[in-house]
Amino acid sequence: MSAALDRLGSAPYRDPVAAIDWSAADPALPWLPPRMLSLAGLEAQAQMSADTVVRFSRVEFARLCAAGLWLEGLLISRVTCGGFLAASTDEARIMLREVREESGHSLMFLEMIDRAGLSGVPLLGSTGLLTWVAHRLDAGDAEFWAMVYVGESVTDTFAVRALRHAREAGAAICPVARQVLSLHHRDEARHIAAAREFLEVRVAAMTPLRRRLFSATLRFLLGRFLRATLYPTAASLRGLGLAQPERAARAARTCPERRRLARACAAPALRFMVRSGLLRGRDGRQKAIARRGQS
Ligand SMILES: [Fe+2]
Ligand SMILES: [Fe+2]
Repeated sequence: MSAALDRLGSAPYRDPVAAIDWSAADPALPWLPPRMLSLAGLEAQAQMSADTVVRFSRVEFARLCAAGLWLEGLLISRVTCGGFLAASTDEARIMLREVREESGHSLMFLEMIDRAGLSGVPLLGSTGLLTWVAHRLDAGDAEFWAMVYVGESVTDTFAVRALRHAREAGAAICPVARQVLSLHHRDEARHIAAAREFLEVRVAAMTPLRRRLFSATLRFLLGRFLRATLYPTAASLRGLGLAQPERAARAARTCPERRRLARACAAPALRFMVRSGLLRGRDGRQKAIARRGQS
């Protein structure tokens, strides 16, 4: 096992639901800082009452939780489906630690969705094609770990930005939301490092044709992924008392602030894919790919 994987496998396990101080909840505070919230442009948003902003922040946070649940479910399903027969014990150990941590994250996310009052509400956009593709990836292949890397990097970049903005003056968020973001980020930093390690040992086996095919597939799927996970659904906006939630959801898809945020969340993963030879094109092409998530 590499020294990096060894380090990844030695962190002590903490159960997320037990680690969060749920009694620290402050109902007056939003769950995300204002700079992470954008619906139909910041000007229109400035008209929202403080109470609506808090409820909107819960919708946005719950969507992040739903994205986590979905991605974690796919990871657990694909990593465990072969019973680890083809994995070394070192790799199987890392993967099982991730399965344990992702299950804990998912339970924590379910609690937040419940607390947001959004249980059973469709929070993500269209995920059918992405789920179909994920179920055809093999955890023994570079493509699988590249997709894991992208999924985890995009959602973690969102969380890191939220934590950074929450430290700005006047942007305090509910302590429970902050703890959830911090705990998840701490674990995800290791998961992302593991995905990178798994990817790097597999990528050398990819032929140039396979890399080109992956690049085209990633380009095709990335916009769908960003649309599914970084934009609110009409159903999730229904509880905010907006006159036309469908129209608000459509406006969010063209909102410049939200487009910029989606681009920024995708950028680190895209840079790494380019460096790994799994995404072709110059920087301008990368931006175009990221931009597809907002159209
Ligand atoms: Fe997670
Ligand atoms: Fe993860």
